[in-house]
Amino acid sequence: MSDPKVIIALDYSDAQSALKLVARLEPALCRVKVGIELFNTAGSQLIELLMQRGFEIFLDLKFHDIPNTTAQACKAAAELGVWMVNVHALGGRKMMEAARNVMSLYTNPPKLIAVTLLTSMAQEDLADLGITATPADMVLRLAKLARDSGLDGVVCSAREAALLRQNCGNEFCLVTPGIRSVDAVADDQSRVMTPSAAMDQGANYLVIGRPITRAADPLQALQNIIKQIG
Ligand code: C5P
Repeated sequence: MSDPKVIIALDYSDAQSALKLVARLEPALCRVKVGIELFNTAGSQLIELLMQRGFEIFLDLKFHDIPNTTAQACKAAAELGVWMVNVHALGGRKMMEAARNVMSLYTNPPKLIAVTLLTSMAQEDLADLGITATPADMVLRLAKLARDSGLDGVVCSAREAALLRQNCGNEFCLVTPGIRSVDAVADDQSRVMTPSAAMDQGANYLVIGRPITRAADPLQALQNIIKQIG
């Protein structure tokens, strides 16, 4: 089976817009990411429709709760049949282990990955929480904790990918947003990297939204990116 490297962020507020976009894509070439906004409006029904159309799904709901509740949420995602699901590493070891344990009951479970530190968190935001470590140190610490808790990988900036690859091993899955081709507009992303540079840094999958979803020809934009990563 093919393993498309591009995960397209379906950052829409309604099912119709998401379905209109995917009608212009090919499931053999990409996966799709459904986040909190779209899931809250369109729910599991949309997940089923996307799967019927052949797309594998990254359910980006960033679970963060007590271990049992998080594990049950992961179970519900596994029952839906999604390809990837995520939790906040800040939920801690017990929470991540509970999530991993529930996944181990499935023969073909979703990949379970963690969000380390939200990229919106700067040093002063950590200080507000009583955390004195730098954001970079926290990312590394949380990525190692996710790996030691048995998770499959983390979402990270492509700029952190090489360091995490070095510290977390070759089997650890790195999923990187903030991707822009050299000639593309950055939108609201402040630190971007090109698709091929991100792969060179050790990324396994690239999360890409607007460069594809807002392109005049989304399929062509996707094919161009696939060509760039080879
Ligand atoms: O449109 P764009 O390519 O910027 O979309 C990137 C996607 O990746 C969005 O869904 C965004 O929420 C997500 N993301 C991100 N930066 C992070 C984590 C997730 O851009 N640190």
